[in-house]
Amino acid sequence: MNGKGCFITLEGIDASGKSTLAAGLKEYIIEQGWPLASLREPGGTQISEKIRQLLLDTANAGMKPWTEAVLYGAARRQLVEECIKPALDNGAIVLADRYTDSTLAYQGYGRGLELKRLEELNDICTGGIRPDLTLLLDLEPARARERQDRQQADRLEKEGCEFQAKVRNGYLELARRYPERIQLIDASRSPEEVMETARLFIKDRLSSGK
Ligand code: TMP
Repeated sequence: MNGKGCFITLEGIDASGKSTLAAGLKEYIIEQGWPLASLREPGGTQISEKIRQLLLDTANAGMKPWTEAVLYGAARRQLVEECIKPALDNGAIVLADRYTDSTLAYQGYGRGLELKRLEELNDICTGGIRPDLTLLLDLEPARARERQDRQQADRLEKEGCEFQAKVRNGYLELARRYPERIQLIDASRSPEEVMETARLFIKDRLSSGK
Protein backbone atom coordinates (compact mmCIF):
# COMPACT_ATOMS: atom_id res chain seq x y z
CA MET A 1 0.00 0.00 0.00
CA ASN A 2 1.03 3.61 -0.55
CA GLY A 3 1.63 5.34 2.78
CA LYS A 4 -1.59 4.86 4.73
CA GLY A 5 -3.84 4.92 1.65
CA CYS A 6 -4.54 2.76 -1.37
CA PHE A 7 -3.98 3.89 -4.95
CA ILE A 8 -6.31 2.42 -7.61
CA THR A 9 -6.04 3.32 -11.28
CA LEU A 10 -8.42 2.66 -14.19
CA GLU A 11 -6.98 2.08 -17.65
CA GLY A 12 -8.17 1.16 -21.14
CA ILE A 13 -8.44 2.42 -24.70
CA ASP A 14 -10.76 5.32 -25.54
CA ALA A 15 -14.47 4.51 -25.06
CA SER A 16 -13.75 1.30 -23.15
CA GLY A 17 -16.21 2.33 -20.41
CA LYS A 18 -13.81 3.82 -17.85
CA SER A 19 -15.90 6.87 -17.05
CA THR A 20 -19.01 4.78 -16.32
CA LEU A 21 -16.95 2.45 -14.15
CA ALA A 22 -15.28 5.39 -12.35
CA ALA A 23 -18.68 6.91 -11.51
CA GLY A 24 -20.00 3.56 -10.19
CA LEU A 25 -16.89 2.86 -8.12
CA LYS A 26 -16.95 6.33 -6.66
CA GLU A 27 -20.50 5.71 -5.39
CA TYR A 28 -19.54 2.29 -4.06
CA ILE A 29 -16.48 3.55 -2.15
CA ILE A 30 -18.47 6.41 -0.61
CA GLU A 31 -21.28 3.99 0.39
CA GLN A 32 -18.69 1.87 2.23
CA GLY A 33 -17.70 4.96 4.22
CA TRP A 34 -14.12 4.84 2.95
CA PRO A 35 -12.33 8.19 2.47
CA LEU A 36 -12.02 8.84 -1.26
CA ALA A 37 -10.11 11.12 -3.62
CA SER A 38 -11.33 10.66 -7.16
CA LEU A 39 -9.57 12.24 -10.12
CA ARG A 40 -8.82 11.97 -13.81
CA GLU A 41 -5.75 12.33 -15.97
CA PRO A 42 -4.74 14.51 -17.60
CA GLY A 43 -6.37 17.05 -15.30
CA GLY A 44 -7.51 17.24 -11.70
CA THR A 45 -5.79 20.53 -10.80
CA GLN A 46 -6.14 24.01 -12.30
CA ILE A 47 -2.76 23.78 -14.04
CA SER A 48 -3.23 20.17 -15.16
CA GLU A 49 -6.67 20.99 -16.65
CA LYS A 50 -5.01 23.73 -18.74
CA ILE A 51 -2.43 21.21 -19.96
CA ARG A 52 -5.32 18.82 -20.75
CA GLN A 53 -6.87 21.43 -23.04
CA LEU A 54 -3.59 21.78 -24.93
CA LEU A 55 -3.24 18.01 -25.27
CA LEU A 56 -6.75 17.25 -26.47
CA ASP A 57 -7.31 20.28 -28.71
CA THR A 58 -7.83 19.02 -32.29
CA ALA A 59 -6.15 22.25 -33.49
CA ASN A 60 -2.85 20.86 -32.15
CA ALA A 61 -2.62 18.08 -34.73
CA GLY A 62 1.06 18.92 -35.30
CA MET A 63 2.11 18.12 -31.73
CA LYS A 64 5.27 15.97 -31.67
CA PRO A 65 5.25 12.66 -29.74
CA TRP A 66 7.81 13.75 -27.12
CA THR A 67 6.04 17.11 -26.64
CA GLU A 68 2.89 15.09 -25.96
CA ALA A 69 4.66 12.71 -23.55
CA VAL A 70 6.27 15.52 -21.57
CA LEU A 71 3.00 17.44 -21.31
CA TYR A 72 1.21 14.37 -19.92
CA GLY A 73 4.10 14.06 -17.50
CA ALA A 74 3.89 17.72 -16.45
CA ALA A 75 0.14 17.45 -15.80
CA ARG A 76 0.80 14.30 -13.75
CA ARG A 77 3.54 15.84 -11.60
CA GLN A 78 1.26 18.71 -10.61
CA LEU A 79 -1.54 16.28 -9.76
CA VAL A 80 0.73 14.01 -7.73
CA GLU A 81 2.05 16.88 -5.61
CA GLU A 82 -1.25 18.71 -5.19
CA CYS A 83 -3.65 15.79 -4.75
CA ILE A 84 -2.42 12.20 -4.97
CA LYS A 85 0.41 12.25 -2.43
CA PRO A 86 -1.46 14.28 0.22
CA ALA A 87 -4.55 12.05 -0.14
CA LEU A 88 -2.52 8.85 0.21
CA ASP A 89 -0.67 10.29 3.20
CA ASN A 90 -4.07 10.97 4.77
CA GLY A 91 -5.12 7.35 4.29
CA ALA A 92 -7.61 7.87 1.45
CA ILE A 93 -8.44 5.55 -1.41
CA VAL A 94 -7.26 7.41 -4.49
CA LEU A 95 -9.22 6.43 -7.59
CA ALA A 96 -7.56 7.74 -10.75
CA ASP A 97 -9.06 7.54 -14.23
CA ARG A 98 -5.70 6.92 -16.05
CA TYR A 99 -2.11 7.23 -14.80
CA THR A 100 1.37 6.07 -15.87
CA ASP A 101 0.22 2.99 -17.84
CA SER A 102 -1.58 5.37 -20.22
CA THR A 103 1.77 6.98 -21.07
CA LEU A 104 3.38 3.59 -21.73
CA ALA A 105 0.39 2.35 -23.76
CA TYR A 106 -0.32 5.52 -25.81
CA GLN A 107 3.05 7.24 -26.15
CA GLY A 108 5.09 4.02 -25.98
CA TYR A 109 3.18 1.30 -27.82
CA GLY A 110 0.93 3.75 -29.71
CA ARG A 111 3.41 6.44 -30.80
CA GLY A 112 6.50 4.25 -30.72
CA LEU A 113 8.55 6.19 -28.15
CA GLU A 114 11.17 4.18 -26.25
CA LEU A 115 9.56 2.51 -23.22
CA LYS A 116 12.64 2.77 -21.03
CA ARG A 117 12.79 6.55 -21.44
CA LEU A 118 9.05 6.86 -20.80
CA GLU A 119 9.50 4.85 -17.61
CA GLU A 120 12.20 7.34 -16.54
CA LEU A 121 9.81 10.19 -17.32
CA ASN A 122 7.08 8.44 -15.31
CA ASP A 123 9.45 8.07 -12.35
CA ILE A 124 10.31 11.77 -12.43
CA CYS A 125 6.67 12.80 -12.74
CA THR A 126 5.31 10.53 -10.02
CA GLY A 127 8.12 10.79 -7.48
CA GLY A 128 7.93 6.97 -7.40
CA ILE A 129 4.24 6.78 -6.41
CA ARG A 130 2.88 3.65 -8.12
CA PRO A 131 -0.63 2.20 -8.16
CA ASP A 132 -1.47 -0.62 -5.73
CA LEU A 133 -4.12 -1.92 -8.12
CA THR A 134 -4.88 -1.21 -11.76
CA LEU A 135 -8.16 -2.26 -13.38
CA LEU A 136 -7.68 -2.60 -17.12
CA LEU A 137 -10.85 -2.50 -19.22
CA ASP A 138 -10.11 -4.57 -22.28
CA LEU A 139 -12.18 -4.04 -25.43
CA GLU A 140 -11.69 -4.51 -29.17
CA PRO A 141 -11.15 -1.10 -30.82
CA ALA A 142 -14.01 -1.74 -33.28
CA ARG A 143 -16.42 -2.28 -30.36
CA ALA A 144 -15.12 0.85 -28.63
CA ARG A 145 -15.62 2.85 -31.82
CA GLU A 146 -19.31 1.86 -31.92
CA ARG A 147 -19.72 3.44 -28.48
CA GLN A 148 -17.92 6.65 -29.37
CA ASP A 149 -19.51 9.98 -30.23
CA ARG A 150 -17.30 10.82 -33.22
CA GLN A 151 -18.60 14.39 -33.50
CA GLN A 152 -17.07 15.12 -30.10
CA ALA A 153 -13.81 13.18 -30.65
CA ASP A 154 -10.69 14.85 -29.18
CA ARG A 155 -7.18 14.84 -30.71
CA LEU A 156 -6.29 11.37 -29.41
CA GLU A 157 -9.69 9.83 -30.13
CA LYS A 158 -9.37 10.96 -33.76
CA GLU A 159 -6.34 8.66 -34.20
CA GLY A 160 -8.58 5.77 -35.31
CA CYS A 161 -8.73 2.00 -34.88
CA GLU A 162 -5.17 1.14 -35.94
CA PHE A 163 -3.71 3.41 -33.27
CA GLN A 164 -6.17 2.13 -30.66
CA ALA A 165 -5.20 -1.45 -31.57
CA LYS A 166 -1.52 -0.70 -30.86
CA VAL A 167 -2.52 0.91 -27.55
CA ARG A 168 -4.66 -2.09 -26.63
CA ASN A 169 -1.84 -4.52 -27.40
CA GLY A 170 0.45 -2.36 -25.29
CA TYR A 171 -1.94 -2.58 -22.36
CA LEU A 172 -2.17 -6.36 -22.71
CA GLU A 173 1.63 -6.55 -22.74
CA LEU A 174 1.78 -4.44 -19.55
CA ALA A 175 -0.81 -6.75 -17.93
CA ARG A 176 1.44 -9.72 -18.71
CA ARG A 177 4.42 -7.85 -17.27
CA TYR A 178 2.69 -6.82 -14.02
CA PRO A 179 0.20 -9.62 -13.25
CA GLU A 180 0.20 -8.81 -9.51
CA ARG A 181 -0.91 -5.24 -10.03
CA ILE A 182 -2.92 -5.15 -13.28
CA GLN A 183 -6.27 -6.96 -13.34
CA LEU A 184 -7.92 -7.43 -16.68
CA ILE A 185 -11.68 -6.91 -17.04
CA ASP A 186 -13.61 -7.88 -20.17
CA ALA A 187 -15.26 -4.56 -21.06
CA SER A 188 -17.57 -6.13 -23.65
CA ARG A 189 -19.71 -7.40 -20.76
CA SER A 190 -22.59 -5.35 -19.32
CA PRO A 191 -21.77 -2.30 -17.17
CA GLU A 192 -23.24 -4.15 -14.14
CA GLU A 193 -20.97 -7.17 -14.66
CA VAL A 194 -17.93 -4.93 -15.19
CA MET A 195 -18.80 -3.04 -12.01
CA GLU A 196 -19.24 -6.24 -9.97
CA THR A 197 -15.88 -7.63 -11.14
CA ALA A 198 -14.16 -4.33 -10.33
CA ARG A 199 -15.72 -4.26 -6.84
CA LEU A 200 -14.44 -7.77 -6.14
CA PHE A 201 -10.89 -6.86 -7.20
CA ILE A 202 -10.97 -3.79 -4.94
CA LYS A 203 -12.35 -5.69 -1.93
CA ASP A 204 -9.73 -8.36 -2.42
CA ARG A 205 -6.89 -5.84 -2.61
CA LEU A 206 -8.07 -3.89 0.42
CA SER A 207 -8.49 -7.02 2.52
CA SER A 208 -5.07 -8.36 1.55
CA GLY A 209 -3.52 -5.04 2.66
CA LYS A 210 -1.08 -5.05 -0.28
P1 TMP B 1 -9.67 10.54 -21.32
O1 TMP B 1 -10.38 10.68 -22.63
O2 TMP B 1 -9.73 9.18 -20.74
O3 TMP B 1 -9.98 11.62 -20.37
O4 TMP B 1 -8.09 10.70 -21.67
C1 TMP B 1 -7.63 11.66 -22.49
C2 TMP B 1 -6.80 11.10 -23.62
O5 TMP B 1 -5.40 11.20 -23.27
C3 TMP B 1 -7.03 9.64 -23.97
O6 TMP B 1 -7.14 9.54 -25.39
C4 TMP B 1 -5.76 8.94 -23.53
C5 TMP B 1 -4.72 10.02 -23.59
N1 TMP B 1 -3.58 9.86 -22.66
C6 TMP B 1 -2.30 9.61 -23.18
O7 TMP B 1 -2.13 9.51 -24.40
N2 TMP B 1 -1.25 9.52 -22.31
C7 TMP B 1 -1.39 9.66 -20.96
O8 TMP B 1 -0.39 9.58 -20.21
C8 TMP B 1 -2.73 9.93 -20.44
C9 TMP B 1 -2.93 10.11 -18.97
C10 TMP B 1 -3.78 10.01 -21.32
